[in-house]
Amino acid sequence: MNILTFRSNEELNEAGAGIITGLVQTNPRAVLGLATGGTPVGIYEEIVKTYRKGMVSFKSVTTFNLDEYVGIPEDHPESYHAYMKHHLFGHVDLSPERTHIPNGNAADLEQECAKYNQHLEDAKQIDLQLLGLGHNGHIGFNEPDHALVSGTHIVKLKDETREANARFFDSIDEVPTHALTMGVGTILKAKMILLVVRGADKAEIVHKALTGPITTECPASLLQTHPHVVVLLDTASGRLLNA
Ligand code: GLP
Repeated sequence: MNILTFRSNEELNEAGAGIITGLVQTNPRAVLGLATGGTPVGIYEEIVKTYRKGMVSFKSVTTFNLDEYVGIPEDHPESYHAYMKHHLFGHVDLSPERTHIPNGNAADLEQECAKYNQHLEDAKQIDLQLLGLGHNGHIGFNEPDHALVSGTHIVKLKDETREANARFFDSIDEVPTHALTMGVGTILKAKMILLVVRGADKAEIVHKALTGPITTECPASLLQTHPHVVVLLDTASGRLLNA
């Protein structure tokens, strides 16, 4: 595990964007696993800047998003479909038929998960999976539990996750109760994982996930078993690591 700590958000964003655009420059047909949430916003901004300078093209890239809420329309500003359009898809030359996000409004959600798994299998392997980290150690929407699911599945969101995400909605009642998420098996199959974390409020979970026991009660701790993980931290979130 290669852990890099940055003094500023700008440096962290540039480093994260540089890793992703560097991969696409060397492998224009790369398969990227993408994340949402507050953490990657600045990285997407830097990627768009690099694209606008004409330094990278995404026209042959395939993407798979980690997750989507169940039951909010795709054009709801807090859906992950809307998020991706707003922060990345609307600004670069990704081909819409090569971008994938689970459909949280499918009539048959089980079937939607099976379809998503099939698309992932057809793509063979994700070259780089971008990940944020939930305060409870979740990755994607794989919540802490006594057992985890390998493939894409429906999850009931924990109260703490709904509370953490309530900041994006008008009230907690509007935060969906369920989501579709890629499973940890799919995440761990990626060739490389880029975990990005910021903020003092994540320092404890960073410490636990990266140095604590490997347990499904902290899904991010499973990343310790992966052979190629790069972790980008700001000084606040990394503060307990060498303490
Ligand atoms: C969200 C997402 C995750 C994300 C995490 C942290 O609910 N499903 O993919 O990494 O929680 O979010 P944030 O970056 O906003 O702290």
